[in-house]
Amino acid sequence: MRALSEGSGSVSAEEAVAALGLSEGGRPGLPRVVAIMVASIDGRATVDERSGGLGHPEDRALLRGLRAAADCVLVGTGTIAAEKYANLLDADQREARQAAGRTPHPILATLSRRGEFPWEVPVLGEEGVPKQLYSEREVELPANATETSLHVSDGGLRGALEHLHGERGVLSVACEGGPGVLRALLADDLVDDLLLTLAPLVVAGDGPTSLAGAALDPPAELRLAGVRRADDHLFLHYAR
Ligand SMILES: NC(=O)c1ccc[n+]([C@@H]2O[C@H](COP(=O)([O-])OP(=O)(O)OC[C@H]3O[C@@H](n4cnc5c(N)ncnc54)[C@H](OP(=O)(O)O)[C@@H]3O)[C@@H](O)[C@H]2O)c1
Repeated sequence: MRALSEGSGSVSAEEAVAALGLSEGGRPGLPRVVAIMVASIDGRATVDERSGGLGHPEDRALLRGLRAAADCVLVGTGTIAAEKYANLLDADQREARQAAGRTPHPILATLSRRGEFPWEVPVLGEEGVPKQLYSEREVELPANATETSLHVSDGGLRGALEHLHGERGVLSVACEGGPGVLRALLADDLVDDLLLTLAPLVVAGDGPTSLAGAALDPPAELRLAGVRRADDHLFLHYAR
């Protein structure tokens, strides 16, 4: 599927990801951080407690393309649990990474200050997925925690990103939220790009919005770097 892009004709999700230039890395000492979220017109992040109901094939292509391009997928424990994370990449994406001399799978990074990780969710036991966990306290890893490293620190998200860059050689991070983690990243000026998909739905209710937590003071200000559309979904690219 190709989506319209303001000013530059038709651009696929793959081309939109390639245009981010993730291999160039981020600011000194940090990886490049690209956050990706989907929201309803009224800013809700879920329909029936999952984000899938807001999606569109082009949005799924963008998400999977971004994962495949990044060195690391960073996602909060709340999202891993709610969305029952598994099979982040397709077999052909793993093969393409390997053919390009990269690891078949990006590092999956997640963090819980309390040290409470949703071990029952498939991705945390998935073979072939390197996992990097961050916590403020020691955690006993269960037997199914394969290829899992734990870093204990009170350095928050900045500390985790510095660790990913400095110790794991990560140049690019795809952050899939959720609302708690995205707020913390924006509050600490750690987001370089925000890919926001706007679904043509009005949801209301009291489900999560794109960001959770206290108001940002002052609000984080971003620049609109690109607009695409596919059917009635809008794809907004904001940059720092
Ligand atoms: N529409 C979308 O694109 C989208 C994307 C992702 C998620 N979602 C939805 O969002 C919901 C989950 O939201 P959520 O806010 O619970 O998930 P989250 O942001 O994925 O995870 C929050 C958890 O992350 C941990 N955490 C570690 N450091 C943190 C920090 N500095 N700030 C905030 N949290 C930190 C916290 O555990 P500790 O308290 O142990 O530190 C907290 O419970 C689900 O319904 C999911 O479907 C929607």
